[in-house]
Amino acid sequence: MTRPKNDTLLRALLREPTPYTPIWVMRQAGRYLPEYNQTRARAGDFLALCRSPDLATEVTLQPLARFPLDAAILFSDILTVPDAMGLGLYFEEGEGPRFERPLREEWEVRDLTVPDPYDRLRYVLDACVQIRRALNDEVPLIGFSGSPFTLACYMIEGRGSQDFVQTKRMLYSRPDLLHRILELNAQAVAAYLEAQIQNGAQAVMLFDTWGGALSHAGFHEFSLPYLRAVLARLPRRHDGQIVPRTVFTKGGGLWLESLADAGADCVGVDWTVDLGAARARVGGKVALQGNLDPGVLFAPPEVVRQEAAKVLVSYGAGSGHVFNLGHGVSQLTPPDNVAVLVDAVHELSRLYHQE
Ligand code: CP3
Repeated sequence: MTRPKNDTLLRALLREPTPYTPIWVMRQAGRYLPEYNQTRARAGDFLALCRSPDLATEVTLQPLARFPLDAAILFSDILTVPDAMGLGLYFEEGEGPRFERPLREEWEVRDLTVPDPYDRLRYVLDACVQIRRALNDEVPLIGFSGSPFTLACYMIEGRGSQDFVQTKRMLYSRPDLLHRILELNAQAVAAYLEAQIQNGAQAVMLFDTWGGALSHAGFHEFSLPYLRAVLARLPRRHDGQIVPRTVFTKGGGLWLESLADAGADCVGVDWTVDLGAARARVGGKVALQGNLDPGVLFAPPEVVRQEAAKVLVSYGAGSGHVFNLGHGVSQLTPPDNVAVLVDAVHELSRLYHQE
């Protein structure tokens, strides 16, 4: 029955009144922070960092020690799930993620199985427990997973991609194989998020980073139904508290009504969307998260404040807004600008939360 002392994030996700607009930042623990780079160097590499619950706890807390953020997000990566499915994740220095065994042949898809998170992803669950202990109920812990479709993109390509040639080839020539991967991913992601909830995550978020690369029909066939399937399988409550869910399809601005209907409490939006217009479309149904352009954080502090103010004006008065960037914070961001942003949101948003 533990509710964090600062529960503005949980309230905003459920569109309950709050004194100000809560803020957290996607990738808030990351390479723009010198202390992160130090811990990462101590770990050896990024994956070692993810696999050590002690070090993952340490880096999760680093941004909170610097900025009065309203939430912690589990330090891990979306690609731990396909790694647990046996695809062999590794990171090529400076090049991003790779899989040793991407899904290319039909038999490789047939052989895919759903991993038991308590076995193959125990290190993530241990990190959740340790982070919760370290947070001491000051702010909530957000757990997360990649969406079934976004994970499938990496599993099929074997790496990041601009054009998703292999994925699109499978989608248009063997949709049955893609559907099989997506169904297994949906089961794996649901089990993984449920385990995170059991081990301390107080809200969860699905990152559908590549859903926006699909056609209109493709999104409704290959991403949305599997987001919905994951959300339908998650427990609504844990420890007597509702566990709010956020779904974020990058580039999904055209499909807000569909996303608002997927079974989430909150829909994340990127900076291509006008927040006020998005609210008019879905505001009666879900909270919204976003959506400052991460590029704003390269500007002088007064511009950061002005641009934060514009996002707040755009959403307008009342609850149901979680301030965030429209995507992850860049590694080139000056940390002081994140401090300016957090303070600006806390200060300027009070105006929009008076009775
Ligand atoms: O938001 C957070 O602070 C939580 C931690 C988190 C990371 N990755 C840490 C990370 C989360 C939620 C993610 C999600 C993730 N990972 C996504 C979806 C969201 C998005 O950003 O689109 C995706 C597509 C990935 C896959 C991934 N992981 C890529 C493409 C890369 C390389 C990109 C890069 O910036 O080099 C990663 C590595 C990664 N994940 C880093 C961090 C802090 C950088 C690793 C390092 O220290 O070198």
